[in-house]
Amino acid sequence: MSENSHQCVIIGIAGASASGKSLIASTVYKELKEKVGDHQIGVITEDCYYNDQSHLTMDERVKTNYDHPNALDHDLLCDHLEQLIKGEAVEVPQYSYSEHTRMKETTLLTPKKVIILEGILLLTDPRLRDIMHASVFMDTPLDICLLRRLQRDVAERGRTMESVLVQYQKTVRPMFMQFIEPSKQYADIIVPRGGKNRIAIDVLKAHIAKLLRS
Ligand code: C5P
Ligand code: MG
Repeated sequence: MSENSHQCVIIGIAGASASGKSLIASTVYKELKEKVGDHQIGVITEDCYYNDQSHLTMDERVKTNYDHPNALDHDLLCDHLEQLIKGEAVEVPQYSYSEHTRMKETTLLTPKKVIILEGILLLTDPRLRDIMHASVFMDTPLDICLLRRLQRDVAERGRTMESVLVQYQKTVRPMFMQFIEPSKQYADIIVPRGGKNRIAIDVLKAHIAKLLRS
């Protein structure tokens, strides 16, 4: 992993869709915020860096394979991380899952001591692997991920049950097998059972605290 100065510690959390990445990231964020200071820790979601598709029709957007690395703008994500490392603020895109594109608004992110990055395809990109100080793979069983995704996408992402199941079979599962699962080999920590794994949360917090001291 990168030896760049620990002015900004970057931790990556990857794994299948609905494996608990966002949950473990927000838990570590909330618990560390109390120790490191409110303005010193931030979370970046890879999903914010899906390609802008505002020039496409809705029919075309629905056909996009959102589980393939080409769907993501990792160039912009890498640029933003490098800017944050240099101590510069960035405008993180906001993404709409129902519109399948970026929104007009962005979120200002000021430089932090700790950035937790979470997203399905982070560990497939050598540039991102190099930027991270430590990485985690959520090794949650796929049947649990599918159950969670069904509930979440219908409740929160404007989808029908039918559309979630079609997308799962057509792209989500095949791309997991092709890209995400093989990227597990690059993780420093493999977390079983999901985002509530207390020992994994504590190990991550302790490791971040150690990096901040070094
Ligand atoms: O939060 P999570 O890791 O599950 O988000 C990634 C998932 O979002 C991907 O598996 C992808 O299929 C889905 N996605 C989608 N529609 C979009 C963008 C992403 O279903 N427009
Ligand atoms: Mg998520």
